[in-house]
Amino acid sequence: MSTPVPAVVEALEKQLNHELHAANCYLAMAYWCSVNDWDGFAKFFHKQAGEEREHAGKVLDHLVDRGVLPRIGALPAPRHEFPALIEVARTALALERTNTAGINAAYAVAVEHKDYPAQVMLQWFINEQVEEEAWGEKMVAKVERASCGGGSFYLDHHLEKELLGE
Ligand code: FEO
Repeated sequence: MSTPVPAVVEALEKQLNHELHAANCYLAMAYWCSVNDWDGFAKFFHKQAGEEREHAGKVLDHLVDRGVLPRIGALPAPRHEFPALIEVARTALALERTNTAGINAAYAVAVEHKDYPAQVMLQWFINEQVEEEAWGEKMVAKVERASCGGGSFYLDHHLEKELLGE
């Protein structure tokens, strides 16, 4: 398999570092939820943190399979304090929207350089982001509604079902 051109390597490295940053952000959110007794949200964000690490791993494996030694960059410290649960939900949605923009940007670079393997790999992420933004939007809407109606306790206990239909 052909080695990607430097511009594609750089775009993919930028995205894999964003995925690792997202993992740390979700980890911080999970612990905020734990200390504030939102155990369902804590569990959900721990799962998301694991998924983001897996996403980074997909890009890392792709680079390695194409003969590139990937660079893992320094990551900014994630936000760890929030005034309320709704701010956690809004931060998660913003994170996913930023992630979608990053994936689209990486895809554009892969298209520009006619890097078909990178395009195919990134198509999985483009599809995944539809799901990721969907739960983010649902989370914001449901936390807003639950805060008004006093349904936060129910939401915390049935979060996966409410967000993902599981
Ligand atoms: Fe790796 Fe939440 O997207």
